[in-house]
Amino acid sequence: LLETARTKTLLHATLQPYRNQGKRIAFVPTMGALHQGHIALIHHARTLADVVVCSIFVNPTQFNDPKDLEKYPRPIETDIRMLQDAACDVLFHPEVAEMYGADESWQLDLGHLDQVLEGMHRPGHFQGVTQIVKKLLDAVQPDVACFGQKDFQQYKVVQYMIDSLRIPVALEMCPTVREPDGLAMSSRNVRLTVLGRQQALALYRTLQQTKAEIGRKSLSTLRKEAIATLRNSPGVQLEYFAIYRADTFEEAHEFTAGQPLVALVAAWVDGVRLIDNVLLQ
Ligand code: PAJ
Repeated sequence: LLETARTKTLLHATLQPYRNQGKRIAFVPTMGALHQGHIALIHHARTLADVVVCSIFVNPTQFNDPKDLEKYPRPIETDIRMLQDAACDVLFHPEVAEMYGADESWQLDLGHLDQVLEGMHRPGHFQGVTQIVKKLLDAVQPDVACFGQKDFQQYKVVQYMIDSLRIPVALEMCPTVREPDGLAMSSRNVRLTVLGRQQALALYRTLQQTKAEIGRKSLSTLRKEAIATLRNSPGVQLEYFAIYRADTFEEAHEFTAGQPLVALVAAWVDGVRLIDNVLLQ
């Protein structure tokens, strides 16, 4: 049965008996509007620990666009039912005032991670993400935390924070869950019109095309072709397309067999900002 805690004190009281019994705790942070991508994280968390904790908190400090925050879907009752069906044990669902004081500053030097791609296009976003993930990890104190590949750069940022602040938690990355036609599941997809929903497919198709040709063309050719395809895709307003080293998260200049690469894309479709990525090898 799903236990819900709306305060840190209650969460602590809920988890203490498990900790006393030496149970392992896995944590899945979310902003709600749950879909099968989130649920896959819950199932994966279940394989790693005895107790699965999910948080639902629409974190105001990571929204660089106030309209996006306002429009962010919050279907809490459906979310709770989905967590019950997924056999999640504990839901942490705090109010903003439970997580933030009146005037909190937070600065974590994320190096180049904060200056490229999502970091560049969404100023302050990763500062907000690290701020809330730190607070949530402090509140839950899990043994392991699960994040999706869908937000690849976010995973890199969280990994960087955990390493630099020496937070004792293991991180797990789970593969991106997609709709049958390839569109990466996202809480923002519900804001797409029927037409926009079709147009959005160009993102994954282009990523797949790049993956199919990796090693056969130079990375700069692949990049140019993908950008041209996306610029010619109706309804798609491209923000970036990039091929990065998956380990260092720096731009990849040449193809080396065995070196992990990731292609990443961000675009606006129908007034909705979408991101996606695939590992190329
Ligand atoms: P949110 O967008 O709700 O995503 C919560 C987790 O689900 C993240 O780890 C994300 O990568 C993962 N996820 C989203 N879509 C997915 C998909 N299609 N397949 C697999 N995993 C997917 O990411 C956040 O919330 C926030 O930034 C958060 C980490 C909770 C901090 O506020």
